[in-house]
Amino acid sequence: MMQSKVYQTRIKNLQDRIDQSEIDLVAIPAGPSQVYFSGLHFHGSERPAVLLVSAHKKPAFIFPGFEAEKVSQAPIDLTPFPYQESRDDWLRTFITARNQFSKGDIRVGVEPTAMRYLEMDLIGYKDKNISFTSAAEMISALRASKDKQEIESIRQAVSIAETALEKTLPIIKPGVAEKEIASELVIQLLRGGSEPELPFFPIVASGPNSANPHATPGERVLSNGDLLIIDWGARMNGYISDITRTFAIGEVSSQLQEIYQVVKQANLAARNLSQAIYSGQMIDKKAREVISDAGYGDAFLHRTGHGYGLEAHEAPYISMDDTAEIPLGATFTIEPGIYLPGVGGVRIEDDMQALNGRLETLTTLDRVLIIL
Ligand code: CO
Ligand code: CO
Repeated sequence: MMQSKVYQTRIKNLQDRIDQSEIDLVAIPAGPSQVYFSGLHFHGSERPAVLLVSAHKKPAFIFPGFEAEKVSQAPIDLTPFPYQESRDDWLRTFITARNQFSKGDIRVGVEPTAMRYLEMDLIGYKDKNISFTSAAEMISALRASKDKQEIESIRQAVSIAETALEKTLPIIKPGVAEKEIASELVIQLLRGGSEPELPFFPIVASGPNSANPHATPGERVLSNGDLLIIDWGARMNGYISDITRTFAIGEVSSQLQEIYQVVKQANLAARNLSQAIYSGQMIDKKAREVISDAGYGDAFLHRTGHGYGLEAHEAPYISMDDTAEIPLGATFTIEPGIYLPGVGGVRIEDDMQALNGRLETLTTLDRVLIIL
C-alpha cells in the first residue's frame, strides 16, 4: 500500500476544492474514487460502503460492521460508522453519519457514473433538506493528474502488456481462431504479473470483424489477407494500460496497407503535438485532420482517446467536445482508427502522459505493419 501521506494529501486537496465550491459534502461509494481518496478497497455490492468528505470535518466512512478490521487500518484519519446486518440499521447509521456534518440543508456532490440509487436513497434522496449535484469535475480534476508512483504503476502495466503480446505473437497464424489468441494473451498477461482484474477482456478482431471497433473475440479463424486488431491491457497496483496494435496476416490488399499508413501517421501527428496547454479537442483535431485529408474522415468512427488510470475509461476525454485544459500529468490514450465495413479496420493505440509542452508516450511497441 502507498504511504498514508499520499492519501491524506488527496483528502486535503478534495477538502480545499469542496471549500471553494457550492457543495457541502461529497459522497463517494465503493469503487475507484473511494480507493483513490481513502486507500480502502470495497466492492460495490448490495451492502453499501460510502466515504463522506466535507471541507472542515474529519471524513466519515459508512460500512458493514464485519469489515471493521479493514477500516481500522485505513491510511486516512476518518470517523467510522459501521452498520449491522439489518436494513433499519443501515438507514439509522447513514442518518447519524450525515447529521454529524449538518442537520440543516445539505448539498451533496456525487459522481454521476459511480453513485447508485441504493446509496442516494440512504443518504437522503427523499429528504427535502438534501439535494444532489455532480462532483464529477471536482473529483476527475484531482484524479486525472498522476503522481510519480501512479506513473510507475502504469509503466509496469504497459510493460506487462507489451511482453504478454510478444509472447503471444508466435501462435498467431492462418487457421488460428480469434478466441485462441485472446486466451493465450490472457494467460500471458496473468503469468507476466498483471493483477487478475484485467482492465477489459482483450479484443481480437480479424478480417471483416476488425471493422467493428468493439468486436469480441469469436470462432473466426485467421486467413491470409486479413488485418488483425488486438486491443488489450494489464493492471498493476490498480492502474491499467490500454494498447492496440494492428497486424497483417500474410499479404494484405493495397487499400488495407494504405489505411494502415494513414492511421499510423494520425497516431504520430497527435502524439507529437507540442503545445503549452492541451485540450482533448486539440489532440482529436490533429489526428482527425490526417485521416480526413487522406479521404477517410467518415471511417474514423470514434473519438481519438480517453483518460486511463484506476479505470480503463476516465477523464480527460480526447474528443471534439472537450475544450477544457488537460491538467499537467494527466494520462490518456491516443487511438485513431479507420474502419471499412465488410473489409477490415486499423487502430493504433498508445498510452500517453501530458507533460510541460509535450506529450510523453509510455508505450514502446513498434508501430510498423508486422506481417504474421
Ligand atoms: Co484499447
Ligand atoms: Co482505449
